[in-house]
Amino acid sequence: MSLFQNYKDLVLNHEWNQELLKQVRAIVAEDESLMEPFTLPSGVADVKDAMDWMTNKRPKLLKFFSDNVYGRILPRPQSLSFEVLSIKEDALNNTAIRKEIRIHSENNGKSHAFDCLLYIPKNATKPVPAFAGLNFRGNQLTIDELDVRRSGLVPENEANHDKRATQKDLWCFRETVARGYASITACYHDIFPDSAAAWDRSALTLFDNVDGFKGCHENYTSIGVWAWGLSRMLDYLESDPLIDASQVAVHGLSRLGKTALWAGATDQRFKMVVSNCSGCGGAALSRRLLGENLFIMHTVFPHWLVKNIEQFIGHEDTAPFDQHELLELAAPRLLAVASATADSWADPHGEFLSAKAASEVYRLFGSEGLPAETDPSPDQYVTGHISYHIRTGVHSQQPLDWGHYLQIADKYFVK
Ligand code: GCU
Repeated sequence: MSLFQNYKDLVLNHEWNQELLKQVRAIVAEDESLMEPFTLPSGVADVKDAMDWMTNKRPKLLKFFSDNVYGRILPRPQSLSFEVLSIKEDALNNTAIRKEIRIHSENNGKSHAFDCLLYIPKNATKPVPAFAGLNFRGNQLTIDELDVRRSGLVPENEANHDKRATQKDLWCFRETVARGYASITACYHDIFPDSAAAWDRSALTLFDNVDGFKGCHENYTSIGVWAWGLSRMLDYLESDPLIDASQVAVHGLSRLGKTALWAGATDQRFKMVVSNCSGCGGAALSRRLLGENLFIMHTVFPHWLVKNIEQFIGHEDTAPFDQHELLELAAPRLLAVASATADSWADPHGEFLSAKAASEVYRLFGSEGLPAETDPSPDQYVTGHISYHIRTGVHSQQPLDWGHYLQIADKYFVK
């Protein structure tokens, strides 16, 4: 029986429970030879030109992803304010200004706050472009400066100094600042603690009395709330005279790469969208069924996508959409997709094909999209309005990945 048939038989004919999850995990494919031919829905079918795409097709596609995948798009809260918690003028060996900012939101009588860490090049003579991304474990893990405030849900015993800075390679603040860019981060747990049961401790509570609110998983998702947080970070950047907020790249690794793609789709103020090993529900095509599939992701992380996605699980091959269309929502802005060789769970080749397929929308805008016909060799950067590389190594965001993002920014951002 073919892989797809096997998958369909399991997910369409059995009760969705932990036992089924085990069985579906057991057939997860890592082998390209098991892939079957497929046809992708075309993003440009019936689209006349770039204007037609922007005014007609794009809003429909965005609504489709909102209704069926990532949930309702959350607005800016009624009241938003920025509290400067600290400023350090001689950060990173006197090369950067470091700011810690608390973003306060109020809506419908509820309030929420989360803390950001921001580095800005010290010698800049004019406002600088910036990178914005969420981190997994707290701001204090992203850099080796011991006086960075603790954030995130890291348990007390892990907040000790020896656990600090353990994710600093994922952030590369020193290199980014040296190249002339600011970089801001916040811990995603502080926006929505990453658990199905935690929505009542998340920023989603700000909106729980709006019309039609049915709850997380029903018509809202944690990915949607994290993306909302990224937009609020951009609101802050717009208010900071040291930042050129018209040139901000949103980026993220893995589940936060899925989030960065959705943030780029929902907030066109982001001028570059970076997906790092985002995999299933991110840049990877669901039709291929290599690595993680929608059934597994949705069962393990039910708060990431809306319930409506369930109608397509087992029918990925005939679904009216696939993930290349999420990438198309970045057009005509800069888009970078990164994979890693030892990350079959995220289907690197499926991420490449998706970036390639999204090029047809970029072509409407007179751009080539991704300038590559076939997968590049590991560690080779393919740079264009759509960029791609596959790093040698595991599921992560590493200096080699940053090397590419900075190269893209150097090429296209104006400094
Ligand atoms: C799990 C999940 C992936 C996700 C990853 C991560 O592996 O299955 O979909 O991308 O976690 O966020 O690290």
